[in-house]
Amino acid sequence: MTVLARTIADLRQARDGWDGAVAAVLTMGALHDGHRELMRAARAHADRLVVTIFVNPLQFGPGEDFERYPRTLDADLAVCRAEGADLVFAPERAEMYPDGLPAVRVDAGPLGEVYEGASRPGHFTGVLTVVSKLFLLTRAHLTFFGEKDYQQLALVRRMVRDLNIPIDVRGVPTVRESDGLARSSRNRYLSAEQRAAALVLSRALHEAAAQSDTQSALATARKVLASGAGVEVDYLAVTDPLLGPAPADGPARMLVAARVGGTRLIDNVPLQLGGVS
Ligand code: PAF
Repeated sequence: MTVLARTIADLRQARDGWDGAVAAVLTMGALHDGHRELMRAARAHADRLVVTIFVNPLQFGPGEDFERYPRTLDADLAVCRAEGADLVFAPERAEMYPDGLPAVRVDAGPLGEVYEGASRPGHFTGVLTVVSKLFLLTRAHLTFFGEKDYQQLALVRRMVRDLNIPIDVRGVPTVRESDGLARSSRNRYLSAEQRAAALVLSRALHEAAAQSDTQSALATARKVLASGAGVEVDYLAVTDPLLGPAPADGPARMLVAARVGGTRLIDNVPLQLGGVS
């Protein structure tokens, strides 16, 4: 059975008395297949699953679509039930922020100001503040985040490490269409022609992933991206898995963001650098 808690008191009452490992999947609702993957991964690794649904005003900038963000609680609850969630915490804004937006926030630091953060000032501080509140409220032992929003995942990992938050953060690989396009709710804004053009992102990353050094990976990806008509690259970068400088050897990440028509798309892949004699 899936219990719906709209208040912190109800969440605590439902959560108290649970034994075993508790996993949390944090969402803003409008649940899609990517969220289902997170819930399935969580179910496979924990005894209990809490899904949170909260459209967090703190992570939307002026002019972003906070008011228009889809709120589809009934449909979301059906998804949570189908995926075996034990508890859904779906608070109103006043329950999470009773005194207005919080004066004390979790500062994302310099890593919150680059890549996605460069075009969305304050976004990651808003994300980390609500994520830390939800970790404290759910008292989850594990949490599952999609690798699609790689910077968010890396910053959550960084916060947990820097603040010693006792939760195990797991990344879940990006769900892709059969032709490689990363699934995103924004894909629906692409015309057929733009969708075809957008495939250069995943192709560029795929070809770059076969390279063993940063410069070759970047050059390969740039060449593929340049072949895409109507694709305007915002950034292309190679970093270490926590978004620090790219290592010469070992695991790394390639990140890309580009505008296709009016739609901004992001994607990323793991790289394995070095190891060539
Ligand atoms: O990825 C999201 O949906 C949101 O950023 C999150 C993690 C639920 C915080 O509001």
